[in-house]
Amino acid sequence: MHELLRSWTRLFFVVLLASVVTPLAARAAEDTPLTKDQIKHFLQTAEVIKSKESSKGVTHPWRLTLSDGTITHDASFQAVDEHKSEMKLESGKVEFGFVDTYRYNIAAYQIAELLGLDDMLPVYVERRWQGKVGSLSWWLPVKMDDADRVAQKIEPPDKDKWNKQMYRVRVFDELVYDTDANLTNVLIGEDWTVWRIDFSRAFRTSKDLRTPKNLVKCDRQLFDKLKALNDDELAERTKRYLTKPEVKGVMARRDKIVAAFQALIAEKGEREVLY
Ligand SMILES: Nc1ncnc2c1ncn2[C@@H]1O[C@H](COP(=O)(O)OP(=O)(O)OP(=O)(O)O)[C@@H](O)[C@H]1O
Ligand SMILES: [Mg+2]
Repeated sequence: MHELLRSWTRLFFVVLLASVVTPLAARAAEDTPLTKDQIKHFLQTAEVIKSKESSKGVTHPWRLTLSDGTITHDASFQAVDEHKSEMKLESGKVEFGFVDTYRYNIAAYQIAELLGLDDMLPVYVERRWQGKVGSLSWWLPVKMDDADRVAQKIEPPDKDKWNKQMYRVRVFDELVYDTDANLTNVLIGEDWTVWRIDFSRAFRTSKDLRTPKNLVKCDRQLFDKLKALNDDELAERTKRYLTKPEVKGVMARRDKIVAAFQALIAEKGEREVLY
């Protein structure tokens, strides 16, 4: 009798412990309880305690481990800052006025904040490390990138949720005119959250859209924020990272994105276009 009671008591405590510990562990693995401002502060001030050069990508950013004594978290440091009047691309084409710079990562994050898309990007700040200034981004809890997903032919479990996230990515890609918007820059979390990273080859001064056919549907809140985007505010928020012609390019493309969706709404009706 005693033996049975003891094993029941033990079972009770095991179940109790599991119900308390599991949600905590899940939350910690998901990411962090820090606010965006606390993350920015951490990235700007925490000490670098470990570093490793990345093997993926072209410019090999560094994966750093930072600690402020309480929190330890990784971050990606990208210091590329290349400007060339002519650049032969991997595709064989030549790009005039080629720029590859960490500054665009920070500009993209600033714009994402203005548009309410900052949950779609890691926080990017400017930071000096080992004598170089670069962008530093909060390391995301990534399960795979979209290139891996496509290669392994894995379908997202919730197509609707996936599409709604990808429409936001597409709109943002058109706005920032990323010439290197490839699948390794779309990262996927455990619960199929989608993040967009790496804008170092974006912000061309083109006043045209790059791939207007990618504009199919638009998040309603994003559409409102796009319409409300103001050039003074944009210039102010990005003044250390974008030139005047680059800001003008963003505003001109904003106008074209809004016009494209308005035309789609006129043709198909709002319910088919906005969600
Ligand atoms: N914040 C982050 N969280 C998780 N993984 C990241 C993060 N930043 C970068 N990575 C990983 O590191 C890889 C390389 O980083 P990134 O895309 O910024 O540079 P890159 O591809 O070398 O740049 P470029 O395309 O200009 O050569 C990404 O594809 C991604 O797998
Ligand atoms: Mg990349």
